[in-house]
Amino acid sequence: MDRKTELDLIDELLALKSAKTAFLDEDVRHNPMDHYTSPVRFEHERERIFRTLPVAAAHSSEISGPGDFVRRDIAGSPAIITRDKNGQPHALFNVCRHRGARLVQDEKGCKHRFTCPYHAWTYANSGELLAAPHFAQGFPGLDKSDIGLARLPCAERFGFVWVSPRQDAGLDLDVLLDGLTPDLEALKLDDMVIAAQETNVRQANWKILIEGGIEAYHFRVAHRHTIGPHFEDNLSSYRSFGPHLRSVLPRTSMSKLSETNREDWCLRDHANILYTLFPSSQLLVMQDHIVWIKTEPVSADATRVTLATLAPRAQADETAHWHRNHVITSTTLAEDFVIGEGIQAGAPSGANRHVLFGRFEGALGTFNRTVEGYLDP
Ligand code: FES
Ligand SMILES: [Fe+2]
Repeated sequence: MDRKTELDLIDELLALKSAKTAFLDEDVRHNPMDHYTSPVRFEHERERIFRTLPVAAAHSSEISGPGDFVRRDIAGSPAIITRDKNGQPHALFNVCRHRGARLVQDEKGCKHRFTCPYHAWTYANSGELLAAPHFAQGFPGLDKSDIGLARLPCAERFGFVWVSPRQDAGLDLDVLLDGLTPDLEALKLDDMVIAAQETNVRQANWKILIEGGIEAYHFRVAHRHTIGPHFEDNLSSYRSFGPHLRSVLPRTSMSKLSETNREDWCLRDHANILYTLFPSSQLLVMQDHIVWIKTEPVSADATRVTLATLAPRAQADETAHWHRNHVITSTTLAEDFVIGEGIQAGAPSGANRHVLFGRFEGALGTFNRTVEGYLDP
């Protein structure tokens, strides 16, 4: 973000703090409980959101060299993200063009060609079919150049390989990221590496897990044994960038800034900044590192969550430091996720027809309005 925005965000939070108020929405909002439980609703979300919108599918450092690849599930489709000999990334279906066998079994690795385990059709890591046994005899009239691996649109920027789940769609990241590109450029995510990572399936709707991160009302209660005491009580702000959100969650140290030289103010030193990149990535920006939270829905009441701690490449060998930080984030977010699982468990009971979002939980209402917008354009 630019310097003016950084100072404006600090000024805004300092003013709210000194006025003993919060960043308030106009009204209380209600969100129907069946939005978190209905399988029909979930299928609708999967079709209109997850099978439509591009996502950050891999961090660039996961396929740093030519030949590197990772396996990914792109909105329910098996895929591999590869880097070819020229350094270009590709998003290819992990499905053989002969009879559809899974081509690549390993989760990650380094290979320049992939051979199908069924009848040995062999593909380059850029997707072209290179060889197939007895091809001329068995498949007369077919041209190998027509039956390379099916591919999805992909582009590499801001340290991520972005993939569209739709074969027929374009992928314009400036349009997709809707005003957030200066912020993402400034984060220098392309100069970072994954220092620690974990994946768990949580028994909660994907929206409950995202909602848990975009308000500070719960900090002093749910996180009282971890990060709660270091953050202001129920103080945060947010801005929308199209479907995306930038939330600022100030630490208690921010209030001392008014006694210091304004030129030295640094938002990141005194707040966590959370980018919610709709629909499935969040970037939790902390002082010296960033946590990439990837949220992939499995069903109406289950979500696969990956936490990846991204560290600056130049300090990547400070492994103990990054692991310590990863454990702090993982422990803190587990507090949120366990509460989210409890919300999910109670959701079908009929005790609540809807959940309530208070005026200081405005980001949750905005997030849910974005979801609605994709379902009923
Ligand atoms: S299914 Fe892959 S070679 Fe036959
Ligand atoms: Fe939390």
